Amino acid sequence: MFITARQLFLRIFLCFICITNTVTLAQPDFIFYFCANNDNYTINSTFERNLDTTFSTLPTTNSGLGFFNHSTPEGNDMVYSAAICRGDIEPDLCLSCLNDSMVKLRELCPNQKEAVGYYEMCWLKYSTQSVLGNIYHIDGYRVLVNTITSAQRDRFVEDLSSLMNKLKADAAAGDSLLKFAAGNTTGPDFVTIYGLVQCTPDLSKMQCIDCLENAYSYYATVFNQSGKIGGTVFQPMCRYSYGLSRFFNEEGIPSPPVSSSSPSLPPVSSSPSLPGTKCNSVCLSLSIYTML
Ligand SMILES: *[C@@H]1O[C@H](CO)[C@@H](O)[C@H](O)[C@H]1NC(C)=O
Ligand SMILES: *[C@@H]1O[C@H](CO)[C@@H](O)[C@H](O)[C@H]1NC(C)=O
Ligand SMILES: *[C@@H]1O[C@H](CO)[C@@H](O)[C@H](O)[C@H]1NC(C)=O
Ligand SMILES: *[C@@H]1O[C@H](CO)[C@@H](O)[C@H](O)[C@H]1NC(C)=O
Ligand SMILES: *[C@@H]1O[C@H](CO)[C@@H](O)[C@H](O)[C@H]1NC(C)=O
Ligand SMILES: *[C@@H]1O[C@H](CO)[C@@H](O)[C@H](O)[C@H]1NC(C)=O
Repeated sequence: MFITARQLFLRIFLCFICITNTVTLAQPDFIFYFCANNDNYTINSTFERNLDTTFSTLPTTNSGLGFFNHSTPEGNDMVYSAAICRGDIEPDLCLSCLNDSMVKLRELCPNQKEAVGYYEMCWLKYSTQSVLGNIYHIDGYRVLVNTITSAQRDRFVEDLSSLMNKLKADAAAGDSLLKFAAGNTTGPDFVTIYGLVQCTPDLSKMQCIDCLENAYSYYATVFNQSGKIGGTVFQPMCRYSYGLSRFFNEEGIPSPPVSSSSPSLPPVSSSPSLPGTKCNSVCLSLSIYTML
């Protein structure tokens, strides 16, 4: 088969267009996403219209601290949606993460009535049933660990557990705007272990604890046995991450809510930051993941 110079040029040119298009228009891949395949909608259905409406309004519903929820009632095709940004993320990054996730989730789950997609900095879900205040409704979770193993597994797990128990309590004690905590502890051989946990703020204190304990049970069966020194459990209602580098933005962490019912904790953001440890976008993600 012969290709003329003109055809060749056209192909190269078209390919160039497709590459530049991809670069300018494409959203980054989710770390993980899940489309429920048991209930689908069709093109031009009421559900699709409601989903369009819901997503067009969702970005305007910021509770103030990176939580978004909107539902569209029309006919019998209710669409409930919610999105949340990691608690240390700047509002601008948060909004563009939400924008990306709405486009990406529509693309990846083109006709499913329920789906969830996770980026490092935000996650988005929608369903035909309420997505608030219920920790087990939506399927779709993922455990990711990095590839490095601690030589002192038992000590590491012990130090990590006490850090994560503290963060779990701090996050659950948050209010209806934010249930987030991040911090560090010293592990074996003087390594610093960093942890971050977050529940969607619609959960009650007990639901948040349950959700994080559920995440911990994945941790216990997976991380505990493997001794991996970094990982994340993504669930629709909460997230649990730890690692040996500071993957979160310390300056961005809001002070724990001041309320009489929660123990008063020193605000993390007021602690002096060490020279040279200011986080940039590179340390905002745990990059070496392995799918399990
Ligand atoms: C829904 O659509 C997906 C593909 O988009 C398909 O795999 C699945 O079987 C469908 N489910 C039903 C119940 O029709
Ligand atoms: C959806 O609606 C648009 C405009 O009303 C129409 O042009 C299109 O053919 C419809 N598509 C399907 C698959 O029904
Ligand atoms: C998000 O998308 C909306 C509409 O598509 C756009 O107006 C807005 O500027 C975008 N925001 C960011 C931060 O990308
Ligand atoms: C660990 O967290 C404390 C606040 O609890 C902070 O002051 C310190 O800088 C952090 N250490 C490192 C190495 O990030
Ligand atoms: C969800 O949205 C509704 C309606 O805008 C609002 O009243 C409610 O406070 C929101 N829930 C949360 C947990 O932000
Ligand atoms: C995880 O490790 C800790 C400490 O080594 C141990 O007490 C606990 O029983 C382990 N859990 C599981 C499920 O293996």
